[in-house]
Amino acid sequence: MTEGLMRAQGVQQGAFITLEGPDGCGKSTQARMLAEALSKDSTEVLSIREPGGTDISERIRKLLLDPANNSMSAECELLLYEASRAQLVNQVIKPACARNAIVICDRFYDSTYAYQAGARGLDKGMVAWANTLGSCGCVPIRTILLDLEPSIAFRRAAKEGTPDRLEAEGLCFQERVRAAYLELAQREPERICVVDASGSPEMVHDRIIEALGDLNLPFATGVS
Ligand code: TMP
Repeated sequence: MTEGLMRAQGVQQGAFITLEGPDGCGKSTQARMLAEALSKDSTEVLSIREPGGTDISERIRKLLLDPANNSMSAECELLLYEASRAQLVNQVIKPACARNAIVICDRFYDSTYAYQAGARGLDKGMVAWANTLGSCGCVPIRTILLDLEPSIAFRRAAKEGTPDRLEAEGLCFQERVRAAYLELAQREPERICVVDASGSPEMVHDRIIEALGDLNLPFATGVS
């Protein structure tokens, strides 16, 4: 698998696209809207989330997010995210890319950099190495980073019910997550597009479509 994507002449036949951002930035809504906009064509569109997306990865997700697991070490957390990812890449993402599907993934290895290196403070080189292992050679063709002022995002996430183990870390943690994301975006401007996540879901959706414009994705006519 090279770079997790296949490009045909003209229109993009398959693509691996990721959505990133702090908790409460509206990622899941935007992933759904994007998948709907692309599903109007005959192209296969697969919408998945991390951690999760396979039986094994969903079981790992439960371990990771359970607030009862508050004694989990940062290293254990890192390795569980990577284990979940390796299973998802091999079982779902690589086969889907091989079928020329468009894969939309709600979080991928940039989350690990932002949360485990940026917010938890694990060594950046070690997290980069772990990301290489966990992603098994799969690289997104484009990453949409939904950027929102952390206090707004945090308030939104808090409204969604009982916080999971990561959300329970609080606002300062989310501020470090955002700073690490923005640092990544500066480092990889061709892959990572920072999109303003404020405003209505429709407004944000339009910004995302614009940020994907150069990929020639098969959006149905009429989708702006
Ligand atoms: P979700 O709520 O967006 O599904 O993500 C689950 C939580 O896991 C969220 O707080 C972000 C966190 N996370 C990490 O800390 N590292 C990772 O590598 C991933 C994929 C998610």
